[in-house]
Amino acid sequence: MIWEYRTTTAAQTQRIGARLAAFLRAGDLLLLNGELGAGKTTFTQGLGHGLGVRAGIISPTFVLVRIHPNLPDGHNPGGPDLVHVDAYRLATAGEIDDIDLETTMDGSVTVVEWGAERVEHLADNRLEIDLLRAVGRSEGGAADFTEDDDEPRLVRLRTVGPRWDGVDLSGLQDDPADVAGTPRNPVA
Ligand SMILES: Nc1ncnc2c1ncn2[C@@H]1O[C@H](COP(=O)(O)OP(=O)(O)OP(=O)(O)O)[C@@H](O)[C@H]1O
Ligand SMILES: [Mg+2]
Repeated sequence: MIWEYRTTTAAQTQRIGARLAAFLRAGDLLLLNGELGAGKTTFTQGLGHGLGVRAGIISPTFVLVRIHPNLPDGHNPGGPDLVHVDAYRLATAGEIDDIDLETTMDGSVTVVEWGAERVEHLADNRLEIDLLRAVGRSEGGAADFTEDDDEPRLVRLRTVGPRWDGVDLSGLQDDPADVAGTPRNPVA
């Protein structure tokens, strides 16, 4: 099943992640894909907030794996930890095996940035999420564009495996009335 969400700000993207967290449990695997700066880490920050894990989610540039433990005094005590991986520099199956995600996976939600074609083998059930910049964003050629300016993104979520059969993920987005071009969900 494929679900799509429109977002026009980084904060909206975080809220999509935060709402998705309510559907997640230990053992779940998420692959986040999309170009540099697409919003993979931004999405993960929202997810971590929703899961009630320790804050401080950043792009793990030189650290491949960061574990954000569930906060016993947070809003979701006893929930899964978040394991946040950046697989950008992991080229071979051997390098991926070396980081040994299997050992933490059962007790955690595992999120892998740049996971496509790298970690699918870890789980038959998974969510594959693409963050896509809206086409034509440079129209008008804003010379003062900076990376932090809010821009539209399309978040496309594909469910893989029976774990996700019948799970209704239609409500993750802010009020569709506020977000132009909202897709019909599910889209397929
Ligand atoms: N709608 C949006 N959703 C998410 N991020 C947005 C949006 N609009 C603007 N941004 C900005 O885009 C940037 C996304 O950066 P982020 O680190 O999340 O990307 P990334 O995909 O993790 O990149 P990398 O591949 O380098 O890890 C942030 O500066 C964020 O503020
Ligand atoms: Mg990142």
